Amino acid sequence: MRHVERFQQLIATRTGLWFDEGKLPFLAEVLEKRLAAAGASVERYLAGLETGGLAELRELARELTVGETYFFRHAEQFRAFTEVALPARIAARGAAGRISVLSAGCSSGDEAYSLAILLKERGLELGTGATVLGHDLNPAALDRASRGRYSDWALRETPRELRERWFSREGNTWVLAPAIRNGVDFRELNLGSGESALLGAERFDVIFCRNLMMYFEPGHAQRLVDALALALVPGGFLFLGHAETLRGLSNDFHLRHTHDTFYYQRKEQLQAPAAPSQLPQTHPTAALASTDWAQTWVETVQRSSERIRALSEGDHVPASRRASAAPRDLAPVLALLEAERFAEALSALPAADDDSEVMLLRAVLLTHGGKFAEARAACARLLELDGLNAGAHYLLALCAEGEQRLGTAVDHDQTAAYLDPGFAMPRLHLGLMARRAGDREAAHRDLSDALHLLQREEPSRVVLFGGGFRREALIALCRAELNGLDGSST
Ligand SMILES: C[S@@+](CC[C@H](N)C(=O)[O-])C[C@H]1O[C@@H](n2cnc3c(N)ncnc32)[C@H](O)[C@@H]1O
Repeated sequence: MRHVERFQQLIATRTGLWFDEGKLPFLAEVLEKRLAAAGASVERYLAGLETGGLAELRELARELTVGETYFFRHAEQFRAFTEVALPARIAARGAAGRISVLSAGCSSGDEAYSLAILLKERGLELGTGATVLGHDLNPAALDRASRGRYSDWALRETPRELRERWFSREGNTWVLAPAIRNGVDFRELNLGSGESALLGAERFDVIFCRNLMMYFEPGHAQRLVDALALALVPGGFLFLGHAETLRGLSNDFHLRHTHDTFYYQRKEQLQAPAAPSQLPQTHPTAALASTDWAQTWVETVQRSSERIRALSEGDHVPASRRASAAPRDLAPVLALLEAERFAEALSALPAADDDSEVMLLRAVLLTHGGKFAEARAACARLLELDGLNAGAHYLLALCAEGEQRLGTAVDHDQTAAYLDPGFAMPRLHLGLMARRAGDREAAHRDLSDALHLLQREEPSRVVLFGGGFRREALIALCRAELNGLDGSST
């Protein structure tokens, strides 16, 4: 292994931060710089990095971390904090209780101070009624945080009245009021150490851990999530960045969706650390679809027209290949699903009510068969087992549409797309519904996203979700719809 690759691996092991192949030249520069600073041979330096303490990790954090942040970043999450999380936790703690909030990966403190301002605005005294703690590995960021001096740019999303109340102007700088600055504690911590008790147990009511996990390699992201779950009180709230999700990482949270944003609430009981999902990254679902948009999507799915068959001719995936994409005992069921013999497939399904894969297949078959109430019940059971199952939300969207509850359908598709940003089908479904509703802008956006995602969608997932249509047929459908949009004036 080349030195730079060993350096890449050690950074991941020690800090969680993952740099892919394309970043190796950058890592090579950093390695050179650190070797010069340490005055050590590369072998000695790398051996020290493997076993050494925090000092070198802090220096690396200065070089390697992305500190982008600003006050009230993603305002809708702060609204959910003020209007849902905080009242819930105040009620749970009772009048004498103290609310504890953590900003994990706090960078220059903007997020922690935004939370402190909202706590003060809610009438909670910092220190006695509420505590706010910020953790980061980068000492330069923590220095900036403790100074509490910010540019216009850092306050670009700060409501004017809050800026006037909690900041004063000194030249080009906004200076944070001492009442806020002194009320927040900043401490250096390596959140990528991989220890599950890193943050203690049941200490925090609310944790903001935004835009950190996205830089972590999956194993460290998993362990950080376990540590966050342990550190939250039961019923405590977790806010992640917009591009981050707990799907596949934890079963310890309920998903919440208010104020146009997603966040999580810790379940009462923690489960054993999540095993890698037994589900394939593929959830069988509805067949596509003709271009006759007078029909609902679900009707189209059920109709299984010869015309669609013709469209997919040559695209057809043999049952043998399909079977190999799924566990063997489900292969006959998938073959029946492929042949759109839903009732037979349902009776061939093993009775395994604790197996999420079987439950999902049952929900798919019920949806295909137009048995929406039963399908919804199956999805609800599945979500009890695996609350962040994107496939179940997608099926609920299909059921809702089949029952003419379009708002609910959109909500479930959005949830599925949030939980699994690479999942093409809910985007496609959203695009088709928007097209039918005459919302050209949304239709264009969602269908373009679907087109893009379909090109990268895992083959096994296309097989299972495409309901008999290969990637090319689904892409052709998207293109036809987009062309229709571009060509029509309404
Ligand atoms: C992009 S900033 C996010 C700031 C803020 N949470 C927000 O979303 O606006 C990510 C922060 O995570 C910190 N970080 C990266 N790896 C870390 C680690 N292993 N332990 C603690 N902090 C880390 C970085 O130093 C950086 O300040």
